[in-house]
Amino acid sequence: MNGSPAERAAKLRELINDYRYNYHVLNKSIMSEAAADSLKHELSRIEAEHPELITLDSPTQRVAGEPLPQFNKIEHSSRMLSLNDVFDEIEFQAWVVRIKKLAGQERIEFFMDLKMDGLACALVYQDGVLVQGVTRGDGFVGEDVTANIRTIESIPLRLRRAKGYEKFLAGRTEIRGEIVMYKDQFEKLNAAREKQGLPKFANPRNLAAGTIRQLDPKLVASRPLQFHAYDMLRDIPADLPTNDYVYEAIRQLGLRANNEVAVAKSPEEVLTFAKKWEDKRHALKFNTDGLVVKVNDRGLFRRLGVVGKAPRGAVAFKYPAEQATTKVKDIFVSIGRTGSATPVAMLEPVVVSGSTVQMATLHNESEIARKDIRIGDTVIVHKAGDVIPEVVEPLVKLRDGSEREFVMPTHCPDCGTKLVKAKAEDAVWRCPNNACPSRAWKQVEHYASKAALDIDGLGEKNVITLLQAKLVSDPADLYKIKKEDLLKLDRFAEISATKLVKAIQDKRHPPLARFIYGLGIRHIGTQTAIDLAAHFKTLDKLRNSTIDELSKVDGIGEVVAEAVVEWFEEPRNKKLLEKFEKLGVEAEKAKEISGPLSDKNFVVTGSLDSMSREEAGERIRALGGTFQSSVGKETDYLVVGANVGASKLAKATKLGTKQIDEQELLRLIDKK
Ligand code: IVH
Repeated sequence: MNGSPAERAAKLRELINDYRYNYHVLNKSIMSEAAADSLKHELSRIEAEHPELITLDSPTQRVAGEPLPQFNKIEHSSRMLSLNDVFDEIEFQAWVVRIKKLAGQERIEFFMDLKMDGLACALVYQDGVLVQGVTRGDGFVGEDVTANIRTIESIPLRLRRAKGYEKFLAGRTEIRGEIVMYKDQFEKLNAAREKQGLPKFANPRNLAAGTIRQLDPKLVASRPLQFHAYDMLRDIPADLPTNDYVYEAIRQLGLRANNEVAVAKSPEEVLTFAKKWEDKRHALKFNTDGLVVKVNDRGLFRRLGVVGKAPRGAVAFKYPAEQATTKVKDIFVSIGRTGSATPVAMLEPVVVSGSTVQMATLHNESEIARKDIRIGDTVIVHKAGDVIPEVVEPLVKLRDGSEREFVMPTHCPDCGTKLVKAKAEDAVWRCPNNACPSRAWKQVEHYASKAALDIDGLGEKNVITLLQAKLVSDPADLYKIKKEDLLKLDRFAEISATKLVKAIQDKRHPPLARFIYGLGIRHIGTQTAIDLAAHFKTLDKLRNSTIDELSKVDGIGEVVAEAVVEWFEEPRNKKLLEKFEKLGVEAEKAKEISGPLSDKNFVVTGSLDSMSREEAGERIRALGGTFQSSVGKETDYLVVGANVGASKLAKATKLGTKQIDEQELLRLIDKK
């Protein structure tokens, strides 16, 4: 071992901290988790032998300490403010007019960030070392949660030294931000709790807030919390001239700030930014309900002052509410494409997320029982982006006794066939009648949908029209439709009829994966369809495959394999395929893509910064590579993203699979 224990400890700390920073702040992996753990062990050993070498910012000091009897109250150095809301363009422009007048200037630059739905927390660094973490509390006084926030890996125990930003390592630097839990982590935790029979948490915000207020830091350490900074305070305000400078400083000092931020030179640019994120925000890791728009110049921000609890120089630009309350008029059962009988709530129309909602899925009867939703209840309805509206919960206190419990019908409401469950423990009842009329229209609609054949102009309404006119009873019939048939219907005129016929005929030779997905086989989503197409290359081969052969396909389990075999055995489906054939509809053979990544198998674990996992899969496949869902002997590369699960890494390490980070993947892809 080289050098003195003190030198070795210092070097270890630096390297471990580098690993942590890269991993938890930059989403990059510079070494495996196992290697980093091994370094931590060595450091612990040195510190055990030389306790005088332990420092407050040593990575070994991140471990959760003993439970606290209570939290101490701490006064904030300056008040933690709230924000006034604006809900639309008009209110936003009114705010701009007001501050322009108060500022006495026409040109104002704005700084924009997403408004995170978590809880505010202030971190105090003294001479670069983390000494305190305080909750917002009432804005004046918060609670000392230092022991808890020290377990959050994206919070550095010591600020990073960065060129040009050294001054922040001297004296007091306060960094404020939001503690959040990512949506995927939240889902995982809730799924685990459900398995253990524990009550589920309501939402990521409540869980994050509940966690940070736990007296036992060990429990906090077991819950994946994140800190995203949005503000910084110094004794000399001039150290921090603008908000974009603050964000840059935050990143340079080794903390995470959102990348989805920008400076706007005009109010119009703010509106464009707001539009851009209105839908896209649903793909983010954390929940947001709007933007925070601040005057970029912090001197001006201070001069504008505070009214009540909120500064004049900033607003929260809120997106339309994704929740509203309304009444359940009735509950009926809808039969899906695969025969599943889903209870649906008929609602008094209400505007949620900017569109009118009249129906919401209730999933299945046990979900209705679990949430105790009754006909006549006032309920909270949730709708986010394009997702199907959902009933969150009934407002039980508003009941007047006239509410009725829902009873699941025993027979299909459309064809009268007795509903069945494949297995007793299944949550979903199904209509076993393959000729059920409800199934036909769902099937045709699915076949035409964007992710399947993507037939332009064939939405729900047109599908129903075609079915009612008896022009179609299954997807193959679509190809028989002639312009003259459509012209007889009210919904069509010369141009629209010509267009639809062309849109259908254009899809005579669809890509195999889309065609497989379009068939609507149970359990076959877009990704599985791609996997099947890549493996079997032709529909014929897929049709003749056995459960054994199917189970060998990467990512396909027994349930899916059985569903595929069952589908192709069903006489009705056999007829459908014959019909397709007679009409000359044939999927393209899946191309044997030979490219620079041919014969290379990739697995991606965790999330990537520059693209979704689906996109990564598409790009790898486009270059001839194979995208696998789990690490095996044949895997050539494990791409390690952010927030990875330990199991894939452990398996890859055991098998000696090459581990690469996102940058390296991009180099492999872009080089080609
Ligand atoms: S800046 C003067 N930026 O929203 C307050 N706040 O309603 C400046 N929040 O207490 C706050 N995301 O907890 C700012 N990107 C963001 C934010 C954000 C969430 C929270 C914060 C604040 C509350 C105000």
